[in-house]
Amino acid sequence: MANKNKVIIVGNWKMGPETVLEAKRIISSTKRFISKISGVKVIVSPPFVYSNILSHSANKEVLLGAQDVSVFKDGSHTGEISANMLKKNGFSFCIVGHSERRANGETDEMVSDKVSLLLEEKICPIICIGESSRDELGGYLEFIRDQIKNSLAGVSKKNALEIIIAYEPIWAIGAKEPMKTSDIHETSLFIKKVLSDLYGNEIAFSIPILYGGTVNMRNAKEIVRDGEVNGLLVGRESINPPS
Ligand code: PGA
Repeated sequence: MANKNKVIIVGNWKMGPETVLEAKRIISSTKRFISKISGVKVIVSPPFVYSNILSHSANKEVLLGAQDVSVFKDGSHTGEISANMLKKNGFSFCIVGHSERRANGETDEMVSDKVSLLLEEKICPIICIGESSRDELGGYLEFIRDQIKNSLAGVSKKNALEIIIAYEPIWAIGAKEPMKTSDIHETSLFIKKVLSDLYGNEIAFSIPILYGGTVNMRNAKEIVRDGEVNGLLVGRESINPPS
């Protein structure tokens, strides 16, 4: 599913921009930029109200991702959008378990249920994990391990290559500085170890791991290179066309 040789850049637009005109402007400048570079796979996750701008123009360069999906497969659920609806409307990726949703009550179990529904529809889940703080004794590693195991409870060995992990330490999201690249590297190795315990070495090393948290045009290259991650999950800067 996810080509390991390409750097994956996910733009999480969150709750912006305010108008459809701005959304169109961001999309065209994103596309203009992508047409000039190679080796990058770009996934844009706009708010649902703008998704048709992209689903009409989605092509190999820009892929459409959702920011969330319903935990329900179907039925009467006001305000919800199902995995099946995503599939039928051009989405091939979906962010799940973002810390801003977890802060609103999303549990690992809900994340796991959403992941299973997405995999059934052949939509690649971008599963967010990350600790809220770090302690000297390394308790955060246990937290990350549990979060991975619980959030991936419904992912079998057969499906494991159809997912993407996005490591986003909560304290680095919306911050001034990203995490240090040496720490990103160390944590991504730890994540691979946990994935290896679940699915074996070969699969673990093939699951793309992204970093997210205060990525911008000045630090992006260094994070991918020195952090040794397969890509980036970009928030604020993804709706700032110049960067
Ligand atoms: P940020 O957000 O890039 O604005 O820090 C990242 C995210 O929340 O995914």
